[in-house]
Amino acid sequence: MSKPVYVLGGPNLNLLGSREPEIYGRDTLEDIHTRLRVLAGELPLETRQTNHEGELVSWIQEGSAKGSAIILNAAAYTHTSIAVHDALKACTVPVIEVHLSNPAARDAFRQVNYVSPAVKATIAGLGAYGYELALLAVKTLLGQKET
Ligand code: DQA
Repeated sequence: MSKPVYVLGGPNLNLLGSREPEIYGRDTLEDIHTRLRVLAGELPLETRQTNHEGELVSWIQEGSAKGSAIILNAAAYTHTSIAVHDALKACTVPVIEVHLSNPAARDAFRQVNYVSPAVKATIAGLGAYGYELALLAVKTLLGQKET
């Protein structure tokens, strides 16, 4: 059994589907995770969401120790968390950052990003499809077939 890909979500992503749908879309986080599981096929996924910074830091550490890669939407912690940045810098597996919206095209306070400088790649602005692209990228990085 291969090591799981950790799909980690930060604060307020539990509200996807009803939270500002004009920005974040109408898919729930469970909808997104369900599609990822189909796309993942045999590759195991560990899908989690938290509203707590320390928990996210612990899961990043766990993903690095026990997983094969991490797909991370740190949500608002992207713009505030040096603890998340440091955890990512310590990661020994590839990390793909995902955002549903494109924070670079939004509010000034979203222009600060502590995640991007510490990850392999960033996908932003493509809605839920960005998660699927991230998983395809992870599969390629792990040398698996993209089916
Ligand atoms: C987000 C963008 C962040 O700026 C915001 O705080 C979120 C969601 C996104 O997926 O577009 O909570 O990460």
